[in-house]
Amino acid sequence: MIEHNALASGAAACTSAAFIEPRGAAARLRALRAAMRGCVRCPALVKCRSQVVPGQGAAPARIAFVGLAPGRLGADRTGIPFSGDRSGKLLRQMIASAGLRRPFITNVVRCNPRDARGRNRNPSKREMANCSGHLAAELALVRPRVLVCLGAVAWRRLAGSAAPFRPRVGAPLRSGGTLLYPMYHPAYVVRGAYTHAAYERDFRRLARLCNGS
Ligand code: URA
Repeated sequence: MIEHNALASGAAACTSAAFIEPRGAAARLRALRAAMRGCVRCPALVKCRSQVVPGQGAAPARIAFVGLAPGRLGADRTGIPFSGDRSGKLLRQMIASAGLRRPFITNVVRCNPRDARGRNRNPSKREMANCSGHLAAELALVRPRVLVCLGAVAWRRLAGSAAPFRPRVGAPLRSGGTLLYPMYHPAYVVRGAYTHAAYERDFRRLARLCNGS
């Protein structure tokens, strides 16, 4: 299953990464980011992206967040996942107010997918598969204890399509040494489909899980 493979190959690499000093992991992450910037695997994305947006944050990190793809008005312009748009602002606000320090933040794909009219679209299965090695390589260096999947697409990629996406319940799923955790994507909250108060409660629950893991 592709979804498990993405994490499993990261987890396999984690075993060898267990001997990497924190500074070594950060340096290797920098090298990885530089290599990703030259990626031309998806012809459609090469045409519509402004830049490749690798994951950013601490390595190793106790907690990592995986979104969908850089947004047209945010990460595609800034080069930093979840920044420069309302989703990014909300996510970072929630992370800070829950007291979650030194997170790593990334996406299922590293380029902004657009439709023929220039609007954000979901990445295709092929595009997600093409980027899964990049995601696995990042996670192998970051080795999060808790890996938060923001939205159903990220959840299915990492937890597998058989696992129901139930962010209101917030039950973690163990995958090797990592706890996968389902949460709504911040864009869902931004467009009013879920309340701020409920999202804050979900982040407090996440913080308790993270502090206890
Ligand atoms: N910005 C990102 O980096 N990822 C998303 O999924 C949405 C906005």
